[in-house]
Amino acid sequence: MFERFHNRTARVAVVGLGYVGLPLAVALAASGYEVVGIDLDPAKIEAVNQGRSYIADVTDTDLLVQATRLRATSDYAVLGQCDAVSICLPTPLDSKRQPDVSSILASGQEIARHLHPGLLVVLESTSYPGTTTGLLLPILEAVAQLHGWRVGEAFYVAFSPERVDPGRTDWTIQTTPKIIAGVTENCLAAVQAYYGPVFDTLVPVSSPSTAEMAKLFENTFRFVNISLVNELLLMCDRLGLDCWEVLDAAATKPFGFTRFTPGPGVGGPCIPVDPHFLAWKMKSTDAEARFIELAGRINAEMPRFWVQKVQDALNDAGKALRGSRVLVLGASYKPDVADARESPVVDILHRLLQKGAEARYHDPYILSLAEMGVPLTAVADLEGEVQKADCVVITTAHSVYDWASIAHSATILVDTRFIMKHGS
Ligand SMILES: NC(=O)c1ccc[n+]([C@@H]2O[C@H](COP(=O)([O-])OP(=O)(O)OC[C@H]3O[C@@H](n4cnc5c(N)ncnc54)[C@H](O)[C@@H]3O)[C@@H](O)[C@H]2O)c1
Repeated sequence: MFERFHNRTARVAVVGLGYVGLPLAVALAASGYEVVGIDLDPAKIEAVNQGRSYIADVTDTDLLVQATRLRATSDYAVLGQCDAVSICLPTPLDSKRQPDVSSILASGQEIARHLHPGLLVVLESTSYPGTTTGLLLPILEAVAQLHGWRVGEAFYVAFSPERVDPGRTDWTIQTTPKIIAGVTENCLAAVQAYYGPVFDTLVPVSSPSTAEMAKLFENTFRFVNISLVNELLLMCDRLGLDCWEVLDAAATKPFGFTRFTPGPGVGGPCIPVDPHFLAWKMKSTDAEARFIELAGRINAEMPRFWVQKVQDALNDAGKALRGSRVLVLGASYKPDVADARESPVVDILHRLLQKGAEARYHDPYILSLAEMGVPLTAVADLEGEVQKADCVVITTAHSVYDWASIAHSATILVDTRFIMKHGS
């Protein structure tokens, strides 16, 4: 198996062909492996097999170039012929805001059914410290024990957190350093051999739990700092100060300061979610993740703050929010991605509708918000809608927007992204 990684004759699998799994599958194929993607969604399987991408960071050409080395299926039996499998399954929060690891459990059982000597299993999904050794490994060992297979000897288990940042072009999946950790020394050697040809820099750490914690800390760092800069905005607002000017001034310090940007809140499948994995884990040890709880409260306050700004701006123009036509620009959680998961814009729209505003939204990538519980579809005529709106709210800085023209046509503009301050 080590030899097959080395000379790239290995067959490998990626379970979950979403935002993380599809780019990884393409990168594995590009480095020479024969790759099979496993997903439950027939539409994704068909798209991959026909060379049609549904993820912005992967082009149709990327899929077509790798067509001879990359295919997709729903059948886990292909693992019987594989040397490695990377698990890229969703790890959302459940209705109680607790980690939902059900897809890792379900998939782990499928992988266990096809476990065989020489197979390396790498978990990529973000999860709480202890997931790889405490949740995934026991599922595999339950089957392995029946055959007398031991981890690190007959089969291998590792964790390597995914750091992909959808829409980013300066750092790619290959150039972003990749943390790796094995359950045993041999497991680490196996994942090193597997990922060595794929990623420019591997960062080995001593245990899967260390790697799991590092991933959660990276995202908690962003979560807490975004909340801090959002609180700066709330404080500047109270004190009548220009938050952007304050930030510009502070950011001239050449050391010891990292600039974050205030906005409508925090969204996406990772930053607002992952810190709660850590908070949940800490609760299980009777400890509190205090920064995370506080940051969550501040970030959650931002949609209410911005809706109040809309109300105030309309009031200054002699209008009530109730009955006013409010156009929200951008529903996704960040520019140029078709992803509204945990987007604070959903909360803003809910609040506007609750207050009786005639709220509508435009987003070139998100044509309906029904799935997110907002009974709205995107308006099509951007120019006409901007002109007709009593108030336009900038929520996502999609690059297709012509800000100068929007600023020129809008009667009232509320700019949650400070576009008019920094221009893009
Ligand atoms: N999206 C990001 O920007 C990002 C970045 C870094 C890390 N992550 C982490 O990576 C993991 C995957 O996230 P994602 O955004 O790619 O998720 P996603 O929802 O885009 O994709 C998950 C895929 O898994 C499939 N799936 C679900 N259950 C399955 C099963 N039992 N067997 C086979 N396929 C199954 C789904 O059909 C879907 O295609 C999560 O843990 C996430 O936190 C995501």
